[in-house]
Amino acid sequence: MRQSLVRLFYRGGRDRAAAASRNRSVPGPAHGPGRLVRLVPAPRRARRAVSGKLPVPRPVAVAERIERSPGLDHPVRVLSETVVRALPAGPRTDALHGVPFGQPAHPALVRLPLGCWTSAVLLDFFRGTERASRTLVAAGLAATLPAGATGLADWSALHRHQQRVGFVHAVSQLSAATLFGASLLARAAGRHAQGKVLSAGGLTAATAGAYLGGHLALRLGAGASHAEPIGHLSGLGWHDLCPARELPDGRPARRQLGYLSLFVLRQGSTVHVLSDHCAHLGGPLHQGRVVTARGASCVVCPWHGSTFRVADGTVLHGPATARQPSFETRVSESGWVQVRPRR
Ligand code: FES
Repeated sequence: MRQSLVRLFYRGGRDRAAAASRNRSVPGPAHGPGRLVRLVPAPRRARRAVSGKLPVPRPVAVAERIERSPGLDHPVRVLSETVVRALPAGPRTDALHGVPFGQPAHPALVRLPLGCWTSAVLLDFFRGTERASRTLVAAGLAATLPAGATGLADWSALHRHQQRVGFVHAVSQLSAATLFGASLLARAAGRHAQGKVLSAGGLTAATAGAYLGGHLALRLGAGASHAEPIGHLSGLGWHDLCPARELPDGRPARRQLGYLSLFVLRQGSTVHVLSDHCAHLGGPLHQGRVVTARGASCVVCPWHGSTFRVADGTVLHGPATARQPSFETRVSESGWVQVRPRR
């Protein structure tokens, strides 16, 4: 009897401890605005008490907590406003986004510092490679400038939860560059062992930052085209869209074609049709302004100002880099606008 009571008391205490640790480790709505959400997983002992199993480290859990961390919003806002002021819309900013290349420039440029630094750390394991390693560290440092500039330009036109992850990604890469800079100084002064340790630390920081960059691009869709795949969602051939007389002249309207939302602009007897979801982050183009740029009618996305030629969806200004899917149009004898995906 006494032993049973002792066991019951012990179990109750353990359950209370588990419940307390469960409450501590659950992030989300329970945290009020302005409070920091824990950025790293709960302590191992507490999580083991909840699940009864050894925890598996999941970097994605860290990335998701960063997405939900309002504590980062102040530095994010300050940096974002600074970048927007420093990079006004124009050809220079378009080049940083990658508009002339039709794809974001940042993913291509980040390979240079990461490749150089990884090679330098690998060479450090061999004798007689000090000069080659030093050259690679220096080349990687030089390549951080274009990579950082393009990354900042893209980052300044993202949603807030994406910017939080991008901010920590940038801090990681800045730490990596600082460590590699210190490594270069140590190597130049002949302190090769210290230089190697600093390079290894820099590569660790760069790898953590690269993981967050991948999360940002692949999980959160920063950089991917958000326009709907019209080739898959609309059938072949011509489709009736709407009577031409229902469309306002010179003002954008939205019409539905099956699952597709379409931006429709009638200018006199000519009708232009684009996919309505902006290729940058899916903004509603039918709410945008119609302007004339480079002698052509264009629509400006209301979210971040990407500018597309209405005739064929060509990008004239970023941050979007992918052409907006467009449709060929004609007006039937009965006065209906008909569309089919442009080849
Ligand atoms: S959603 Fe960003 S420019 Fe359109």
